[in-house]
Amino acid sequence: MSILSQHVMNVSASEVSVVSAKALELERQGRDVIRLSAGEPDFPTPDHIKMACIKALCDNKTKYPPAIGVPELREAISMKLARDNGLDYPAGRTIVCSGCKQVLYNAMTATINPGDEVMLVAPYWMTYAGIVQLSRGIPVIIPTTQESGFKPTAEALEAAITPRTKWLFLNSPGNPSGAVYSAGELSALAEVLRRHPQVWIVSDDVYEYIVYDGIKFVSILNVAPDLKDRCLVVNGLSKAYCMTGWRLGYGAGPDELIKAMFKIQSQSTSGATHFCQWAGVAALTGGHSFIAGHNAEYEDRRNLVVEMANKIPGLGCAPPQGAFYSLISCGPYVGKKSPAGDLIATDEALVGYLLEQAGVAVIPGTPFGMAPYLRVSFATAKPKIKKAFERMGEALAQLR
Ligand SMILES: Cc1ncc(COP(=O)(O)O)c(C=O)c1O
Repeated sequence: MSILSQHVMNVSASEVSVVSAKALELERQGRDVIRLSAGEPDFPTPDHIKMACIKALCDNKTKYPPAIGVPELREAISMKLARDNGLDYPAGRTIVCSGCKQVLYNAMTATINPGDEVMLVAPYWMTYAGIVQLSRGIPVIIPTTQESGFKPTAEALEAAITPRTKWLFLNSPGNPSGAVYSAGELSALAEVLRRHPQVWIVSDDVYEYIVYDGIKFVSILNVAPDLKDRCLVVNGLSKAYCMTGWRLGYGAGPDELIKAMFKIQSQSTSGATHFCQWAGVAALTGGHSFIAGHNAEYEDRRNLVVEMANKIPGLGCAPPQGAFYSLISCGPYVGKKSPAGDLIATDEALVGYLLEQAGVAVIPGTPFGMAPYLRVSFATAKPKIKKAFERMGEALAQLR
């Protein structure tokens, strides 16, 4: 009999890690692999943030931090939420965690009873489903379509709600779709949520600064401030500040929830790495002008991805409005056979084929709850993107 618990056996490892491990294995064998798989900026962390960390180390900020976060960072978060989002959260309603993942994990562990339901909008970040399952909850999927910009209608939201529903996860700009919700779309969802007071909302805003075409990020709390006492704002430094490896995220929400999340954190990690938190202070309080430069580059790359994907027969891609991912439909290739005679039965098989045949790593849509699709990350330099699409085009042309 296995030592593992049943519910852990039911959860899969993140597909991004699985594809990355396969890509690494091929690289070890000497293959040239282009990775369009990771959700990680290729820009370095800005210098002023790194210097703040070095100073913190020299100042011996190397002991255990307060488990809920250093007061200066919690103050900076409170200031940032007021400055950028018009949201009023005193520092005492915030918690610093080791990345957004831990914010979400704390929140779900704190609130889910076995069998409680959590609504995820498909396509959803696969980690949402993993965290809900690890917390013994049940992910309930709200379907969307490419035509609706991968955003749910009010009717689809209403239909997914049951007496067991505890949370709705909202993520705008979204991973993997790049969809950005407008004020009107959020108002329509808020209208439904008002009728169901048992449903809480996670607003995962981690890509808030990475938007294109002049679009502005709006939080559901900007259009429905009355939902604030059942909303957890989740954000982090991984994406806009290019700080994936620093593991810094934060939550802001009602007192009872933040206290429960603190309890879990104090009994698990004891908080985010102490000296990294001082880098977080520099990031939130320092200059943000570098973000516009990054966004201009991402937007160029996005345009390249959309142009190159749509040139390949059978692939279809609308320009994402935010984040750094494109979701590309690949339906016509599913059901075909590779030159070796293997059936490409799913988008997962297609991803395996593209990795082997073209040496290009992308993520299938299936684990995001939307198939058959390919998720391409364009947090990679343009020459690599161009080469990757040329190679994918050649490999796809060989399927019969
Ligand atoms: C939707 C979403 N939320 C949050 C995160 C960031 O997680 P973390 O702060 O743990 O790096 C990611 C990273 O991929 C993401 O795609």
